[in-house]
Amino acid sequence: MADQHRDSVPEPGLRVLIFSASLRAESLNARLAGLAARVAEQHGATVDRASMRDFDVPSYDADGEARGEVPAGARELQRRLEANDAFVIASPEYNASMPGLLKNAIDWVSRFSPQPFHERHGLLMSASPSMAGGNRGLWALRMPLEHLGARVYPDMFSLAMAHKAFADDRLANPALQQRFEQSVQGFLDLAEAAKHYPCIKRAWVEFLGEHPDTPVDRVEAK
Ligand SMILES: Cc1cc2nc3c(=O)[nH]c(=O)nc-3n(C[C@H](O)[C@H](O)[C@H](O)COP(=O)(O)O)c2cc1C
Repeated sequence: MADQHRDSVPEPGLRVLIFSASLRAESLNARLAGLAARVAEQHGATVDRASMRDFDVPSYDADGEARGEVPAGARELQRRLEANDAFVIASPEYNASMPGLLKNAIDWVSRFSPQPFHERHGLLMSASPSMAGGNRGLWALRMPLEHLGARVYPDMFSLAMAHKAFADDRLANPALQQRFEQSVQGFLDLAEAAKHYPCIKRAWVEFLGEHPDTPVDRVEAK
């Protein structure tokens, strides 16, 4: 028997926010974000390309926040996260961690409730002229995102010697390009599955033995 419900309700495609955490005009990470957007569109996703300039915020200031001075860049990141099902961040590695401007933007956005990173699927990638490709920075970036309840894809893509790795609209090394496409597509497939077959996880208890309680809960149940 035909599934009439499925026939009558078209399922919306996946919407993905993609941005680089570099402000540099010739940013290698912006270039990698561009490749990710291309692969995502080819895979059928609707891409929302953003720049870190869209999310520009002053240093987090709790007193300013208490006065209601929430910067427009933080509200914009909140809005764009909520408008999309998933996000991709291509982030430079600064001193073995993430750039301060990205952490600062995450800190501002962490103050919103409901929390826009909560249950949103994220893919992390990096590009660096170094041999490690900025991968250590992504491990640092995972931490606040997972802390806020984002579902950070286990596979992270780090492009080593990135200043020599690009060829027009792809990576010069075909094997690496294939691996990149597989990472992006695998992530999109998981986010797509989660969108249409939601997981049942509602909340977590952060530390063993910590009882759910409003002052300590980092992630609220819907
Ligand atoms: C403050 C600062 C710290 C950096 N620290 C690292 C680092 O720890 N590891 C690394 O691989 N590259 C490091 N770099 C080099 C960046 O990876 C390189 O500048 C890269 O091109 C920046 O990304 P972008 O091209 O997207 O702007 C650092 C650069 C800056 C400006």
